[in-house]
Amino acid sequence: MKVLVLNGPNLGRLDLRDSNIYGNLDFAGLKSEIVSAGKELGFECDVRQSDSEVEIISWLHEAADTNTPVVFNPAAFTHYSYAIRDAADMVTVPLIEVHLSNPMSREEFRHTSVISGVANGTIAGFGPDSYRLALIALSRMAK
Ligand code: DQA
Repeated sequence: MKVLVLNGPNLGRLDLRDSNIYGNLDFAGLKSEIVSAGKELGFECDVRQSDSEVEIISWLHEAADTNTPVVFNPAAFTHYSYAIRDAADMVTVPLIEVHLSNPMSREEFRHTSVISGVANGTIAGFGPDSYRLALIALSRMAK
């Protein structure tokens, strides 16, 4: 089964962000961890990243139109993009929100997620393992 793994702004420059928060992995490294975690569970993970709200919305439309489950790290859009929330709400197959860090233990503006209310669940704070845990949840939901 195919899974869309969508990543929002600045995650393409993961290795240049605060390593105390995001570790040392670059986006290519994160992508290969996700692809191999997916393979172990029988998923073909299509991992994408964009800094553009428009492009992320078009990928969510694609997921809705093709009934493809989504693992989604909206990055900073998490906290304020109602347009992305509305697009995520149109996905009727499972959509799991993930974060590398734990936004609840960071600045107050990160404590709000406008996405959580339309996601099946949220996994945050486990670094790349947040994605692995989301894929495990997806495989259980598929059964
Ligand atoms: C993030 C958390 C967000 O608050 C932040 O804007 C990001 C990354 C995470 O994966 O921990 O860019 O989504």
